[in-house]
Amino acid sequence: MRIRDMQDEMLRLKKEKDVCILAHSYQAREIVEIADYMGDSFQLSVMAQKAPQKTVFMCGVRFMAETVKILSEDKRVVLVNPLAGCPMAEQIEPEMVEYFKQKNPEYTIVAYINTTAALKTVCDVCVTSSTAVKIVRKIQNDRIAFLPDCNLGDYVQKQVPEKEIKLLQGGCPIHASVTVADVENARRLYPGALLLVHPECIPKVVEMADYVGSTSGIMEYAKNSPHREFIIGTENSIAEHLQYICPDKRFYPLSKKLICPNMKLTTLVDVLNALKGEGGEEIVLSPETITKARRCIDEMIRLGG
Ligand code: 13P
Ligand code: SF4
Repeated sequence: MRIRDMQDEMLRLKKEKDVCILAHSYQAREIVEIADYMGDSFQLSVMAQKAPQKTVFMCGVRFMAETVKILSEDKRVVLVNPLAGCPMAEQIEPEMVEYFKQKNPEYTIVAYINTTAALKTVCDVCVTSSTAVKIVRKIQNDRIAFLPDCNLGDYVQKQVPEKEIKLLQGGCPIHASVTVADVENARRLYPGALLLVHPECIPKVVEMADYVGSTSGIMEYAKNSPHREFIIGTENSIAEHLQYICPDKRFYPLSKKLICPNMKLTTLVDVLNALKGEGGEEIVLSPETITKARRCIDEMIRLGG
């Protein structure tokens, strides 16, 4: 079967079965083409809530599918490739946060959305990379404990110096692998290009960037900029999507290490199989987990929307 024929079959099946397909922007081009929405983790969680379909497929990683389920309890939510997890999401156990809260009751616990549903149940508010600074500024407390991404937390601290932000250690192994030497090398190869970087990169790399933002922030910046060349400091799919969207500009991956193996697990065949009812995993969360985790996400949408 040719890719185009497979995609046509999927478009037919998703209509027939009333399925909304969400694709995180780290997904491959051929998946984005058959999705109803592509976006960053914040946009997808809002889109899922608004989607009229009764079933939602997540082409992304597990915490994203869990977030959709928490926000849309009555919908059937399917993680298209059940093996796709985010290692950062599982770095901190809920018990560790409970212990921290006992010792430090004066802190507001801010959880990056890249966390498990179980962890969200013990936190106060979620943030995404596109909303973290705005939300931390709005929180009515000057003492913040931020988890699990200490690189994003460090970036937020620099934007919001008036608050004290305690970083609970963790991070994205993919973005954190980029070094200052990688930036120097890319700048040598592409001297006229602007450097656009995700805040999950280490602070020294973030400091060298011309623009820092979420996946959608980076895409918007590149689309609207009068500049013609860009080094992309986030997962390499973003450089690929941008090249399609802006064929007259040039996009260069910052590093060949910026490939997330979990995001790359989902294939077109996985989507087709899930649509046929032969694959994917339905996300099941207890009503208690949904109620508790939802407070954290609702607060994110209220403060970040
Ligand atoms: P965004 O919120 O920018 O989409 O990031 C999600 C992610 O997993 C980054 O590594
Ligand atoms: Fe998780 Fe990093 Fe992959 Fe994003 S890029 S899904 S944070 S491992």
